[in-house]
Amino acid sequence: MKLVKLIANLGYGSRKEVAWMFREGRVTDAAGEVLYADDKVEHEHVHIDGEPLDPPVGMVLMMNKPLGATCSRKDQGRVVYDLLPPRYRVRDPSLSTVGRLDRDTSGLLLFTDDGALLHRIISPRAEVTKIYEATLAQDLRGDEAELFASGTLMLESETTPLAPARLEVLAPRLARLTVTEGRYHQVRRMFAATGNHVDALRRIAVGALQLDELPAGEWRMLSEAEIAKVFAGTPVV
Ligand code: URA
Repeated sequence: MKLVKLIANLGYGSRKEVAWMFREGRVTDAAGEVLYADDKVEHEHVHIDGEPLDPPVGMVLMMNKPLGATCSRKDQGRVVYDLLPPRYRVRDPSLSTVGRLDRDTSGLLLFTDDGALLHRIISPRAEVTKIYEATLAQDLRGDEAELFASGTLMLESETTPLAPARLEVLAPRLARLTVTEGRYHQVRRMFAATGNHVDALRRIAVGALQLDELPAGEWRMLSEAEIAKVFAGTPVV
């Protein structure tokens, strides 16, 4: 692919704007030598304003989504893309969230521009585990773990039961729930089905990939090894 198109696709500007960047000498190799639009250079050697070019297609990043941000590109309030460099919002192919977290849910959120990978993670058949910590309004009854593991729980207005999920009780009003699906408001609706209410919800892992120490509102790129961890969770049953 021609350098101008490659750089424009990464969201640095329109092709016209990128052509100007070349004329202004802002596009260089790693040693600072000015590049020209027709040069043939490997992606990893291209720098703009002295900084390496953003990763090519296939990038995956994780964010510790803060409360109050919506998983959408445009919304009245704060959106998760506001926390990323502005050019990430206009990359082509586009950078999407891998599934969604509610505005009032915090924690591990993945983004990728690799459509096939995204599908492999969110497809219920792939059984990628998502682990949530839920703080509840009322004490657990005691029968929730069995109910959630049964594979028979039917959420209101749905026609197929939920796949088995694993509940670990951490305190009378604190539970860790592992699910393999991503139905609309799934965790909140599961506890609502038991007469409880989720006061706070945080996703702590996707597969074996954990949120770790990433502060709220921050993000980082994932390595190949970390992406592999997404598919290495402990099966629910
Ligand atoms: N389940 C929910 O209810 N909300 C989320 O954000 C994610 C899972």
